[in-house]
Amino acid sequence: MRVLQMFRSMSSVVIGLFATNSWAVDLSPREAQVLAVICAECHSRAETTAPVMGDTNMWRERNAQGFEVLVRNTVLGKGSMPPLGTCGYCTEAEIRHLVEALSGLADSGASP
Ligand code: HEC
Repeated sequence: MRVLQMFRSMSSVVIGLFATNSWAVDLSPREAQVLAVICAECHSRAETTAPVMGDTNMWRERNAQGFEVLVRNTVLGKGSMPPLGTCGYCTEAEIRHLVEALSGLADSGASP
């Protein structure tokens, strides 16, 4: 609980960081908000064990699985990440853009 509150209080910092979007993926305003408010709760802090956005070392092995596996694992959930990264209202297209933004990997364009 305390950890969650810490994330919330950090969210303005996180929005600033995520707005700079190191991979320059074009996100819709809604996607950018999901990234900053939902995904960033875990993916901006290594303590959560989630791979941190922009940290290429943390993503290298995961990206080696290929883009579609990343999308599938995001949709179904993996380890301590709940299904859809908890974004229950995200569409598949949005999830794919968010995975691009987090991983730095380009969408392979294949259907999952
Ligand atoms: C509650 C914390 C949490 C939230 C919120 C969250 N994630 Fe994750 N995510 C994790 C953790 C922890 C892992 C590492 C899981 C593992 O490998 O055991 C992970 C892993 C991933 C991976 C890599 C999967 C792989 O195959 O290695 C992707 C991609 C990802 N998350 C995308 C997202 C997206 C997109 C969002 C927002 C919609 C999101 N996550 C929200 C905790 C979270």
